Amino acid sequence: MARPEYQAPPEVFYSECEARKYSQNSRMIDIQVQMSERAVELLALSDEPHFLLDLGCGSGLSGSVLEDQGHTWVGIDISSAMLDVALERDVEGDLLLGDLGQGLPFRAGAFDGAVSISALQWLCNADKSSHHPAKRLYTFFSSLYACMNRTARAVFQFYPENSDQMELVTSQAMRAGFFGGVVVDYPNSTKAKKFFLVLMSGGAAPLPKPMGESEEKEGISYTSKREQLKKMRGKPLKKSREWILEKKERRRRQGKPTRHDTKYSGRKRSGRF
Ligand SMILES: C[S@@+](CC[C@H](N)C(=O)[O-])C[C@H]1O[C@@H](n2cnc3c(N)ncnc32)[C@H](O)[C@@H]1O
Repeated sequence: MARPEYQAPPEVFYSECEARKYSQNSRMIDIQVQMSERAVELLALSDEPHFLLDLGCGSGLSGSVLEDQGHTWVGIDISSAMLDVALERDVEGDLLLGDLGQGLPFRAGAFDGAVSISALQWLCNADKSSHHPAKRLYTFFSSLYACMNRTARAVFQFYPENSDQMELVTSQAMRAGFFGGVVVDYPNSTKAKKFFLVLMSGGAAPLPKPMGESEEKEGISYTSKREQLKKMRGKPLKKSREWILEKKERRRRQGKPTRHDTKYSGRKRSGRF
């Protein structure tokens, strides 16, 4: 089947029907969450909460990974149907409808980092006669460079169609002022192979190590049990009472309507109705 970018422009392809899959299809949800977790790992943030951007935030699955790790985020997406799903999911991030190819409307140096999951390849396509992919990528990367602070990284999981596309994307990012390159996880696996463009705004640093370079097995999970436990240390278990109370506290700090805490908050339901 043709790649999604060849089927329709993103604001059309990500229709209500496509957007629904991001709240109903557990396999799609799992993949988005796994790739987002890996992107956050590649951001190499310090332990404090940070102010992050989600570029092509869609239904907010990737944003939820950011908020679960204690960060505050702002998301931008071109599809109103995808953003409607994010609103239904009641995500904590602020959402903006906009086209990355027209540049980002944020204050200089505002963000500590940015993630983007499966969106960047869309910018390599010309959907209108006025679209020039190299120019759109440059406009996007320059505005991203401007709104990030000088220690920040941006990590993009993306699906380059070929080496020319990879070259197009990286050359426009470097032209805009970034350092960095592409990290390929599980390079020997057709199913698990994933491309992450890691951009640094404050000077050159060694690229992070790819995962699974020597793995031949397909469909390997991103984080081994040991690594997962290491990451979780000191953080409340997802959906536990403590996790729910922390999440509610963050919402209150953001001035969002939040129910009072009671002795019933986070209790396990019996499953019977
Ligand atoms: C695979 S989805 C990402 C889903 C998202 N990570 C989530 O948690 O739901 C790719 C997203 O990129 C967005 N996108 C594609 N081209 C875009 C553009 N030029 N500007 C803004 N968003 C774009 C699409 O609308 C879509 O929501």
